[in-house]
Amino acid sequence: MSLQNKNVVITGGSQGIGLATAKQFIQQGANVWITGRNADNLQKAADEIGSAKLKTVVSDTSKFEGIAALEKAVAESGQKIDVLFLNAGVATFAPIEHVTEADFDLQFNTNVKGHFFTLQKLTPHLAEGASITFTSSGVATGSAIATAVYSATKAALNKIADVALNELAPRKIRVNIVSPGPIATPGLDSVAPPEAQAYLASTTALQRVGTADEIAGAVVFLASDAAGYINGADIAIDGGFIQYHLK
Ligand SMILES: NC(=O)c1ccc[n+]([C@@H]2O[C@H](COP(=O)([O-])OP(=O)(O)OC[C@H]3O[C@@H](n4cnc5c(N)ncnc54)[C@H](OP(=O)(O)O)[C@@H]3O)[C@@H](O)[C@H]2O)c1
Repeated sequence: MSLQNKNVVITGGSQGIGLATAKQFIQQGANVWITGRNADNLQKAADEIGSAKLKTVVSDTSKFEGIAALEKAVAESGQKIDVLFLNAGVATFAPIEHVTEADFDLQFNTNVKGHFFTLQKLTPHLAEGASITFTSSGVATGSAIATAVYSATKAALNKIADVALNELAPRKIRVNIVSPGPIATPGLDSVAPPEAQAYLASTTALQRVGTADEIAGAVVFLASDAAGYINGADIAIDGGFIQYHLK
């Protein structure tokens, strides 16, 4: 797929990985919708990108009304979606004993329910041969302390992606997952102070955290013709975890 004039929807696109991905798709000539809960943050992102090819939709993916607002914007455009990047996500970390119901609901409503129903509502608007990519995480297959809820949301998301692949195959729609390791974003800054980020960097073979652009590049590639036979992949973009590279 050449990305010129393709229609791309990115949930959680006002900062971090979603914003970096929006920029790269715009550079490729695509039309991009980005979503987020906060209108000011979306406006900042739009100002930064500065392209008429970018549109913003205030849409809280954890709520049905938010998903409906996104669906309405897409339906009113009269366009089919060529690329759907289901990326919005939140994380809070605490040992199981200290997790609150609010922590649990926020993460499951955003990271699982939100993606599931966004996928459901936008499926009728997907073009034949569209590319869907989910943002999961390396933690989906890990079991580090204090990550039970967040990890469980990402593991659930991976299963939804697996099933979607089979259900959407008759329409030649490809479904893939990107699983970032630690990536420098406002989201990471909000949960990991500098010393925690230094520790995370030390757990990677490359001894650094990644950049949002390094995830964006993979998502753009997955949407392109060059990835036309890549379907059902879960691409780890994590610098290589050190435990796989014994010193
Ligand atoms: N950074 C990492 O180290 C890392 C590692 C593994 C996986 N991930 C995953 O990568 C994705 C992006 O993370 P990031 O680090 O780029 O996060 P980020 O910097 O916090 O950005 C998150 C984006 O999602 C939006 N968002 C949050 N909740 C939303 C909701 N309910 N509805 C719509 N938009 C929402 C935010 O905008 P508003 O706040 O305005 O809504 C923002 O645009 C997430 O799924 C995260 O779990 C990140």
